[in-house]
Amino acid sequence: MTDTTKTAAEQDRVLIFDTTLRDGEQSPGATMTHDEKLEIAALLDEMGVDIIEAGFPIASEGDFDAVSAIAKQSRNATICGLARANYKDIDRCWEAVKHAKSPRIHTFIGTSPLHRAIPNLDMDQMAERIHDTVSHARNLCDNIQWSPMDATRTEHDYLCRVVEIAIKAGATTINIPDTVGYTAPRESADLIRMLLERVPGADTVVFATHCHNDLGMATANALAAVEAGARQIECTINGLGERAGNTALEEVVMALKVRNDIMPFRTGIDTTKIMNISRKVAAVSGFPVQFNKAIVGKNAFAHESGIHQDGMLKNAQTFEIMRPADVGLADTSLVMGKHSGRAALRAKLKDLGYDLADNQLNDVFVRFKALADRKKEVYDDDIVALIQDQVTSAEHDILQLKRLRVVCGTEGPQEAEMTLTVEGVDHSIDATGDGPVDAAFNAVKMIYPHSAKLHLYQVHAVTEGTDAQATVSVRLEEDGKIATGQAADTDTVVASVKAYVNALNRLIHRRQKSAPGADVKDVHYTSHA
Ligand code: KIV
Ligand code: ZN
Repeated sequence: MTDTTKTAAEQDRVLIFDTTLRDGEQSPGATMTHDEKLEIAALLDEMGVDIIEAGFPIASEGDFDAVSAIAKQSRNATICGLARANYKDIDRCWEAVKHAKSPRIHTFIGTSPLHRAIPNLDMDQMAERIHDTVSHARNLCDNIQWSPMDATRTEHDYLCRVVEIAIKAGATTINIPDTVGYTAPRESADLIRMLLERVPGADTVVFATHCHNDLGMATANALAAVEAGARQIECTINGLGERAGNTALEEVVMALKVRNDIMPFRTGIDTTKIMNISRKVAAVSGFPVQFNKAIVGKNAFAHESGIHQDGMLKNAQTFEIMRPADVGLADTSLVMGKHSGRAALRAKLKDLGYDLADNQLNDVFVRFKALADRKKEVYDDDIVALIQDQVTSAEHDILQLKRLRVVCGTEGPQEAEMTLTVEGVDHSIDATGDGPVDAAFNAVKMIYPHSAKLHLYQVHAVTEGTDAQATVSVRLEEDGKIATGQAADTDTVVASVKAYVNALNRLIHRRQKSAPGADVKDVHYTSHA
């Protein structure tokens, strides 16, 4: 439906609503620290995201603090918080977002038959609840988003009825979630079209699309919704999110840019910032990007086959629909080595999208030199791994790996000699195991007994060659709390232990936060000392 009160330019503009810090962070294991959330929010703001969903303020003190801090630091983006359909949630959400230059409350309730059964409300009772809660939110804030959760499995007549109620009660954005990733492109478009045609007042609000990727159709469904009239896409960096994730920001934004001939819509995103934020989100969430992931995968711009390389050399457009530089990938692959100086490293980091302060640069330079001593050629990906390693390990960590020596051979058991610093005190131990990594992990457990279970252990070679760095991801779970650690090193066992220790530090940090003031040992862990 065309809104005649809007200029052509306004009608073509699609708002980007990023929910990496809410729906993305909700994904088991993707928990981020307070500082990491602030850093990601700043990058989202800088890249031109219109609305940042910063968290779910009622969920915990930590969520509330993060949303408030993001609201205070926001520059251009609208800062949004999530609230269920009750006054307490909405009031708490407002307390957190009100500091933003442009605050938004996002309130939701499940409207499909299955979801209506959970609060045990009949259709009329739920309609009344929607009216009351949206009105309450609108009395606090003039920017209200309302979502009928599981909209794609809600009866059409009822969906039209509740959307109309929400609009009349003051909602300014109506979001249509495909909560379980069930819809398909044609249906996604038909649903938006149907709402725009049937709901009185639909032309006075923005319709949003919020898709999950369970059937691999989240991007296609979001784009179809836009073609039908939605003007806000909800998405996350790298498609992070529960189960198979959400619509990936980089995919919808680049699709609209590259295929603007058939999808004539604009976003406000500076696409050259995509790679940097993708790497950052992968590092802090501990969810590595799959190699062949569209736009941000390691292989997305790699042309290995002879035919492709030949074509590329003659004319890049033969096999390339977008330039690497469009998404912030440095065109040059200037290889660095042990003779490269600080200025060259600074230039390389800038190329890769990292603008470091002098003290941070000094630290990376020392570690770069150490790496260059062990590895003849240092590639872009090695440098990114160095930076990410720095991001995930902090000086105030309770546990730090000081020394490790492993003895391997065809005859087991393998042995690990380890010194681990626990709250500033060194502890040394010898342990055995079924392989060097198992022996080293056993040494950590002996020095620092804990009951965390290993859920994921993943090793990636950063570059080719036997001297390549390994990036290791470790996910631990204890008492329902999940933490992921990452580390890189040319020695796979060292990287593994650092990643393991990093995940443990995060678990400890979370326990300390949930029991403020408590000593780390009171909270749960006991050191071997
Ligand atoms: O997927 C979903 O339904 C959601 C809502 C809270 C909008 O994330
Ligand atoms: Zn969702």
